[in-house]
Amino acid sequence: MRSHYCSEVSENDVGKEVTLCGWVNSYRDHGGVIFIDLRDKSGLVQLVCDPADNAHAHKVANEVRDEFVLIAKGKVRLRGEGLENPNLKTGKIEVVVDELTIENRSAPLPFVIGDEKVGEEIRLKYRYLDLRKPSSYEIFRLRSKATIAARNALDKLGFLEVETPVLTKSTPEGARDYLVPSRVHGGEFYALPQSPQLFKQLLMVGGFDRYFQVAKCFRDEDLRADRQPEFTQIDLEMSFATQEDVIEVSEIMLKEIFKACGHEIETPFKRMTYSEAMEKYGSDKPDLRFDLSMVDMIDIFANCTNEIFSNIAKDPKKNRIKALKVPNGDNIFSKRQMKGFEDYVRSFGAAGLGYFQYKDDGLKGPLTKFFSEEDLQKIIERADLKVGDVIFFGAGEKRLVWDYMGRFRLYLAELMDIIPKDRFEFVWVVDFPMFEVEEGKIKAMHHPFTMPDNLDVEDLEEVSSIAYDIVLNGVELGGGSVRIHKPEIQAKVFELLGISDEEAKEKFGFLLEAFEYGAPPHAGIAFGLDRLIMLLTNSSSIRDVIAFPKTQRAQCMLTEAPSRVDNEQLRELSIRVREQKKV
Ligand code: AMO
Repeated sequence: MRSHYCSEVSENDVGKEVTLCGWVNSYRDHGGVIFIDLRDKSGLVQLVCDPADNAHAHKVANEVRDEFVLIAKGKVRLRGEGLENPNLKTGKIEVVVDELTIENRSAPLPFVIGDEKVGEEIRLKYRYLDLRKPSSYEIFRLRSKATIAARNALDKLGFLEVETPVLTKSTPEGARDYLVPSRVHGGEFYALPQSPQLFKQLLMVGGFDRYFQVAKCFRDEDLRADRQPEFTQIDLEMSFATQEDVIEVSEIMLKEIFKACGHEIETPFKRMTYSEAMEKYGSDKPDLRFDLSMVDMIDIFANCTNEIFSNIAKDPKKNRIKALKVPNGDNIFSKRQMKGFEDYVRSFGAAGLGYFQYKDDGLKGPLTKFFSEEDLQKIIERADLKVGDVIFFGAGEKRLVWDYMGRFRLYLAELMDIIPKDRFEFVWVVDFPMFEVEEGKIKAMHHPFTMPDNLDVEDLEEVSSIAYDIVLNGVELGGGSVRIHKPEIQAKVFELLGISDEEAKEKFGFLLEAFEYGAPPHAGIAFGLDRLIMLLTNSSSIRDVIAFPKTQRAQCMLTEAPSRVDNEQLRELSIRVREQKKV
């Protein structure tokens, strides 16, 4: 229908007849002449409807309101000196309309399009209106570019795109499954895949060598700013491949994705062991865009006369005493703020937060009296303190200290506004522990098909795995591992995880059976596409980069899913709803 997109019309078209289609972004009546800003995906252009030029078009223009859909035919002319709009790509020209059609009217809008102050629920209910704002279009333009770049890069690297089932059996990614009842097999259920993990391993047994998929995954878990119940992974798997091979193809793919979105990134990325990440940044997804890092102080605290600290320091395997240095912190923070910091860490389970201020005449603070001069000097040297610096201490069980000091590090960085928003800091976190103990139960840190590195050590918590995560700006962008391909190692891992032969057979029997027919060594990774786009577009929520996202309570405001179904449907599925439980 159109000859040009709105923002494509330029000075080069002056005198030409054009046909434009789009929505009314705004309109103004200036003494009988009506000006309309017409909008399409490309941007805006000004239409002029002057009764002196065309009385009929002007009459139609009189009826125009916001978000009406128009088709306008007219001639391009220069706006003339003083009338140009330097903020608009088409600011030098306008289109004098000689034919105007209202294709569709719009009801009064529930909110002004693009108004960021409007509540999210209402924007999600009318998501199609929210998507009309140029910033939304830009996000989805980049998302499309990124996905196509990933596909092209992987295609070039010899990967085959294969679709795997959505109605399937439970996969072991650790979240709750979404279940789908079977009509044909009353009382039985499919699970929606938490990831294509098992199928991609089967494709390796099938000899496909290199697989990828832009895959929808479903996880019923507590939602956060970077989690959705339904999300997309760029998922890949390679045969006869090591961790290094996976890292290499991942970096090539990410470089291509960023290039397609207008960013050059440097590879290879930094690497850090899990242990270093936890000890220095208190997190397995360290944000390396800024410098603050933690220093160990447990050996120095062992000598202090404060019973709480010296007791904690007695068990350096179980406990940590970590210090976080804030350069010039003494001049940045007020006493009240320092008190507030303690409340902040307490909300994450800390017993308290100690601090020292380094003044002209040495370390000051409520704790100094417990330390010898010599140890105070050691603290200054260990943390490399300058006059004006403050150091904060967290002491206690190591996981707790890592967690709250890691959060505190981010909190301080936000407060001091030292996080550059225009940087992409990638890091591979490697050498993850194989197992973690949660509430006395041992579970796989990645998943039970991850290859252990040293299964012979006594202490299970010391077993490491060949697993790797890619972290970008403090967000876990992806994770993967080398897989177990030998039945005897798999059996041993199941045994350690307390998964009985019967349970393993029932849950993953088909995979274990496949491995009896010549499974190649294989490894893979999956990237969270939504998270990637969130970071690429500097969006604050994952919902901004998903066309029709769900709320924090896993609802779709637009379609009102989930919703009840009628009794007939339930009967067919052999289901009776006993109670309406709201969590
Ligand atoms: P993992 O569970 O680490 O690994 O998931 C891989 C990546 O998927 C993204 N992601 C999510 N994004 C949005 N919402 C969610 N609820 C969500 N959950 C995960 C993250 C994460 O890094 N099968 C393995 C991969 C493998 O071993 O190859 C897996 O799924 O960015």
